[in-house]
Amino acid sequence: MNQNQLNDICLRQLSLSAVHEGETVAVLSRGNERPDYADAFMYAAQRLGAATYHLRLPDAPTASGAWAVGDSGLADNPLAVDALKQADMLVDLAFLLFSKEQFAIQDAGTRILTCVEPAPLLARLMPTEELRERVEVGEEILAKASTMRITSPAGTDVTYRLGVYPTMSEYGYTDKPGRWDHWPAAFVFTGGADDGVDGRIVLSPGDVLLPFNTYVQTPVTLTVEQGFITDIRGGLDADLLSSYIASFDDPRGYGMSHVGWGLDERAQWHGLTQFPGGMGMELRSFYGNVMFSIGPNNELGGPNDTPCHFDIPMRGCSLYLDDEQIVVDGDIAVPDMRPRARR
Ligand SMILES: [Fe+2]
Repeated sequence: MNQNQLNDICLRQLSLSAVHEGETVAVLSRGNERPDYADAFMYAAQRLGAATYHLRLPDAPTASGAWAVGDSGLADNPLAVDALKQADMLVDLAFLLFSKEQFAIQDAGTRILTCVEPAPLLARLMPTEELRERVEVGEEILAKASTMRITSPAGTDVTYRLGVYPTMSEYGYTDKPGRWDHWPAAFVFTGGADDGVDGRIVLSPGDVLLPFNTYVQTPVTLTVEQGFITDIRGGLDADLLSSYIASFDDPRGYGMSHVGWGLDERAQWHGLTQFPGGMGMELRSFYGNVMFSIGPNNELGGPNDTPCHFDIPMRGCSLYLDDEQIVVDGDIAVPDMRPRARR
């Protein structure tokens, strides 16, 4: 994708995000990462009449190479955080997710869009208002539920007690003050009560382990009791999962994090094979996936801020909210959440 094409999709993005004259759009990047994205977003902001600037942080804060979430590199940089709080919108090319600084910037009323995926994927999964509507239907249904049960032919049967944490949506753009989103994305999620997740989850071949960015090859059986994983059994995939979580030496790494389902019929389950350099947003979004997560729930306002985090989109599951079928065998059962052609 050349710079003109990138400029064009960023202009469409910031238009959806309602950037307008009189606003200021800040762009945040790190090291040598994504200078072309920064230029494209600044071009787009100016085209829409907004003021804009680019704040560039030094290289990655951690040398470990592990995907430890929550370390933004802004913790010792209050002046930079203050500058970002002043903006109406922040385009985050540095991945602040789960950091205290991101929450502080949102609390100041700045809306935030994270954008770190490969440009061809941004173009292919360009957000739409129609997709947003369907995601918001899901958000509304999920927000009313008091229990979620997930089952699968492989033997998953797990129940989340809901109602403690808010429901969140991601549809790939953001036009409300203080709201965060991620381009591309199309899913809804909430979290179970801290001690309110119980049952068994059986990962099947083809389910996705993020941030390993791999497909499960052999079944993995997870036992969940009172909100924590107490046993992980299976072959190599189970060993890798166990070994990774254990390496954080943090019992909260076994906590149950967000849970929900994906709604973008354009997103491909095999997306990791096409975009091996990405972070798997296509896999979080593909239509009818049920995604559960392990680790922190501070994103939802919970107490667990462990840096150990897994997102695990699963195929072919069924999901019930208070016994109402929402996802059936990997297909969306609620007409208003389905694409119009599939209703
Ligand atoms: Fe996650």
